[in-house]
Amino acid sequence: MSSDKRCPVIHFDHHSAEHTANHVEIYRELIEKAPVGWTEAYGGFWVLSDYASVYEASRNDDLFSSARHDEYGGPGLAVTIPKAPTEFHIPIEIDPPNSAPYRKIINKATAPKAAERLLPKIEHYVTGIVDSFIETGEADLAIVAAVPAIVVIDWLGLDPSEYQFYVDAMHTLVSAAPDSEEYKHAAEVAVPWVTKTVREHIAFRRENPADDITTYFIDAEVDGRKLDDDEIYSILELVISGGVGTTASLVTQSLVWLYQNPEERRQLIEDPSMLDVAMEEFLRVFSPTQALARTIMEDTEFHGCPVRKGDRALLSWAGANRDPEQFDDPDNVDITRWPNRHIAFGVGVHRCAGLYIAKGIAREIFTQVFTRLGDYVVDMDNVVSYPDQGTNAGYHSIPVTFTPGERLLGDTPLFGEHYTKSR
Ligand code: HEM
Repeated sequence: MSSDKRCPVIHFDHHSAEHTANHVEIYRELIEKAPVGWTEAYGGFWVLSDYASVYEASRNDDLFSSARHDEYGGPGLAVTIPKAPTEFHIPIEIDPPNSAPYRKIINKATAPKAAERLLPKIEHYVTGIVDSFIETGEADLAIVAAVPAIVVIDWLGLDPSEYQFYVDAMHTLVSAAPDSEEYKHAAEVAVPWVTKTVREHIAFRRENPADDITTYFIDAEVDGRKLDDDEIYSILELVISGGVGTTASLVTQSLVWLYQNPEERRQLIEDPSMLDVAMEEFLRVFSPTQALARTIMEDTEFHGCPVRKGDRALLSWAGANRDPEQFDDPDNVDITRWPNRHIAFGVGVHRCAGLYIAKGIAREIFTQVFTRLGDYVVDMDNVVSYPDQGTNAGYHSIPVTFTPGERLLGDTPLFGEHYTKSR
């Protein structure tokens, strides 16, 4: 790394094995030595890693565009580097002011009150998933990571028992290395399956409305007109993509950390009122969505660096969330830290639309793990991390043992027939 702090050329590849193993250290060094730097990876891009530059860039949509510009960096999802092979996503790939009417209808579906209405569903699924292993005294605790996917799929009115297909598609694109077999399978097989299934579902719901979010988007109006199928699909694919993996990433990282830090685990078990503040700290230190991208729209200077129209830029929420200028002792996980102005949910017009749903799911998972599996012991030699921690960080597998407990759902099936099959 160059010693020139103003826009050095850096060695940085967020999809490399080196990054997967050391992402916290890598961002720490960047904040110190090169908060805005240029890497030659993937055709070249700027890496923004301190709080000030990430915050400023996120709020300057004219200069840091989220829109698709296929002429720069090729076709694909504009907010990842390299661009993931997904369909167009609304509203994350639309700059303001055109993103606003879409956000308005999405916000209505994800506002605190709407998220609250999902709580019984969330409780049902967490209870059922914990029931599935509670009597055995051993499990792969990462299975709780299925809950966010199940809840989101059910919320859209799709078949929740097929949740794994959606995870294999949308989550793999952000947790597997772009050159891996897993990623190839997601792009070539799983994503086309999602596209076909969700498009059929939209068509079915046009004829057979139901009490679900797909029907809500079919009925919703943007600027006085109804959405067409392509627009609805673009929103649903984004919601699946944003919803299935991120909360899983938060929960899996936190549960491993809580095993390694029994004193904090004891405090949270004994005083559940501490949980909400602790979750904000977990969001800060684990930054489930580590970094997302933008395209630069003008030749200008940014934080002393000569950015050029068409340059790509990676904004690291993970780096920003450990910037010592913003957070005292940033590497210390303090579950009582408050205030906590982390930006794990992003900043500005694209700030996470699903954050109340995410928090509702995470809160229920932590609560049931603490009350039903409170003494879980992780087999640390056999935990498996995501093979790529560049976009989403987390664990695929967390083998645990614990004192067995009782099932709570009785004969109620995990997946009822409450949704209407569209196929
Ligand atoms: C802990 C869990 C989550 C984290 C850390 C997270 C993180 C983020 C971040 C950083 C962004 C900003 C993207 C950008 O600026 O380019 C974002 C946007 C978004 N998230 Fe989340 N997310 C989480 C859960 C969810 C869930 C559960 C849903 C859906 C139910 C969701 C739906 C969305 C949507 C639709 C957007 C796009 C908003 C827009 O472009 O206006 N997220 N999320």
